[in-house]
Amino acid sequence: MKNEFYIPGQVAMVTGGNVGIGRVTAIELAKKGFQVVIAGRSLERTQPVLDHIQSLAVDAPAIFIPLDLASLASVRECARLFMQLNLPLHLLVNNAGVAGLKGMTQDGFEMAFGVNHLGHFLLTQLLLEKLISSGPSRVVTVSSRAHKRTPGIDWDDLSRPTRTWTGIREYAVSKLANLLFSSELAKRMNGTSVSTYALHPGVVDTEIWRALPDWARPLLRLRGFLTPEEGARTTLHCAMHAPQTESGLYYADSQPTQASALGQDSELATNLWERSEVWVNHR
Ligand SMILES: NC(=O)c1ccc[n+]([C@@H]2O[C@H](COP(=O)([O-])OP(=O)(O)OC[C@H]3O[C@@H](n4cnc5c(N)ncnc54)[C@H](OP(=O)(O)O)[C@@H]3O)[C@@H](O)[C@H]2O)c1
Repeated sequence: MKNEFYIPGQVAMVTGGNVGIGRVTAIELAKKGFQVVIAGRSLERTQPVLDHIQSLAVDAPAIFIPLDLASLASVRECARLFMQLNLPLHLLVNNAGVAGLKGMTQDGFEMAFGVNHLGHFLLTQLLLEKLISSGPSRVVTVSSRAHKRTPGIDWDDLSRPTRTWTGIREYAVSKLANLLFSSELAKRMNGTSVSTYALHPGVVDTEIWRALPDWARPLLRLRGFLTPEEGARTTLHCAMHAPQTESGLYYADSQPTQASALGQDSELATNLWERSEVWVNHR
C-alpha cells in the first residue's frame, strides 16, 4: 500500500497538459480528485482534455490558463490569472518541454533552456508564496536522463540561438537545469511545507520528438518507447506518493535514483538559481 500525500479537492497546475505525459498526468490527477489547472499554449488543443476530465464527473471542472514558456511576459500573465482565481495551490507540475526545437525565446534565451528551465523557474517563483501558504504542497519537475549528456553549462551559450544541429546538447543542458532547480528549490524550501521532486519519465512515445531529424527517431524506437500512460507514472508517484523526506531527490521508475555528478553539484545549482533570478528580473 503506497503512502498518499494528497487529499481530494486539492488544486494542481500542470504545464503542457494537452498532450503526451502532461495529458495523462492531468487526467490521472483529476481522477484522484484534484482540481486541475492546465497551463498551455492553446485552448483549442487542450479542450479535448478539459472535456475528458469533465466526462469523469469531477467535482470541480478543469481550468485552462494560457502559457507560453518561451515568453516571460506570458509566464507572468499566467501566474497573474491563476492568482485571480483565488484558489490554493497544492501541486505544481513543471511538465511542458521542447526537444530539438532551435532558436531563441522571445526574451533572448536559447530555446530549450528558455522554455524548459527559465519559464518554469519564473512560474514557480511567482507561485511560491501561494504554494507555501497552501502547504503541504509539492513542485514536481519533469527532467530527463538526458541531463547526463552534457559536460557542463556554458553560461554564454544560454543567451545565443541553439548551436548544435540536433539541439540534443542544448536539451541536455535544459534538463540538467531542471534537476539543479529542483534540488536548489528543496534547499530553499527547507523549513516550509513545500517539497520538490525532479524525475526522468522514461523514453516515452510522445510529440516531444517531432522536431528531431527523421534519422534520430528509429534510434529512440530501438531503445523501447513507453506509452504516455507508463511515462506519467513517475510524475504521478512524485505528485502523490513520494515522502516529503525525499524532497530534492531525482526519481526514475518511481524511486529515487542517482543523478549525474553535475546533477548533484550544489554549487552549480546555487549559481544557476542566482543567475536565473537575474535573467528573469531583467528581461
Ligand atoms: N517523451 C520522452 O521520452 C521524454 C523523456 C524524458 C523527459 N521528457 C520530458 O517530459 C516532459 C513532457 O514531454 P512529452 O514527452 O509529453 O512531450 P510532448 O508530447 O511534446 O508534450 C510537450 C508539452 O509541452 C508543451 N510546450 C512546448 N513548448 C511550450 C511552450 N513554449 N509553452 C508552453 N508549453 C509548451 C506542449 O504544448 P504544445 O502542444 O502547445 O506544443 C506540450 O503540451 C518534457 O519536459 C520532456 O522534456 C520526455
